[in-house]
Amino acid sequence: MSVPIIKSPRAMRQWTFEQRCAGRTVGLVPTMGGLHEGHASLMRESVSCNDVSVLSIFVNPAQFAPHEDFDRYPRTFEADLALAEGIGIDAVYAPTSSSMYGQDFASYLTVERVQDGLCGGSRPHFFRGVATVVTKLFNAVLPHRAYFGQKDAQQCAVIKRMVRDLDFDIEVVELPIVRDADGLALSSRNQYLSSAERLEALNLSKALARGLELMQRGERDIRRIEEAVRAELADLDIDYVAVVDADSIEPLAVAQGNVLLAAAAHVGATRLIDNVKYTFPESAADGFPRADSRKREYAISAK
Ligand code: PAJ
Repeated sequence: MSVPIIKSPRAMRQWTFEQRCAGRTVGLVPTMGGLHEGHASLMRESVSCNDVSVLSIFVNPAQFAPHEDFDRYPRTFEADLALAEGIGIDAVYAPTSSSMYGQDFASYLTVERVQDGLCGGSRPHFFRGVATVVTKLFNAVLPHRAYFGQKDAQQCAVIKRMVRDLDFDIEVVELPIVRDADGLALSSRNQYLSSAERLEALNLSKALARGLELMQRGERDIRRIEEAVRAELADLDIDYVAVVDADSIEPLAVAQGNVLLAAAAHVGATRLIDNVKYTFPESAADGFPRADSRKREYAISAK
């Protein structure tokens, strides 16, 4: 039997209502389609941790500025369905634009501060559109758990804060970045790259790996980490390189605790993002007592 495709919030809620009445847990994987192995990793996790799983596919106009790629964003619905079905997704929520944004739509959600830096700087409309559509997806699907990728680390931070602040009864699960064998983070937008551009794009993950290596060796000077990454990106048109607090996405005076090293750059006409996370070991300089320094060495971990 083929997977049901649900097209309106009302029909979606009815489906979930039946699942919840039967005592089943519901997982949700929100996407804009153009699916690849990164999306597949989220779907697999949802299928293995919940009784039933919903994949949503909706290219959300509210998160694209007029000059961005909404019209040419990859739309591969049939292939997406086949992938989802193979993984064991139980329903696909593919709402129509009119059922999501009716006439006179006027209610948008902003997640202050978390949405301001990094991608929020160059795409000021973006997180307002994401937070609004994810709220609408949550309200239609009413999942127990929702799955997001670290590939969009600031998006994860925005959604986690929104869920906490607005009392959504949903567990947000963040999963690691899936990369090609050569290190390039998978992205629906990689389809836009020519083979020469794809080679150039590799510098993004290489530069971030260099930044991670510096942090692992104990570099806590943010300017030095950012400059080392910028130096490796010299040929690309850099949008930003930043080391910030991984949860609040706010600037840090020195690198400590859970940090996010993130970068965005244009390769030809395509804007790509990537990041690494690192947890600095607690040290006397952080104000934490050092009970057993040998034990702490084992606590160093690059996520
Ligand atoms: P989209 O870009 O389709 O991504 C859907 C989910 O897949 C996001 O949580 C994203 O972080 C995750 N993802 C993308 N590439 C990944 C990779 N290489 N490894 C692991 N996960 C990856 O993000 C969106 O859609 C939209 O903003 C959305 C949340 C659906 C709201 O419209």
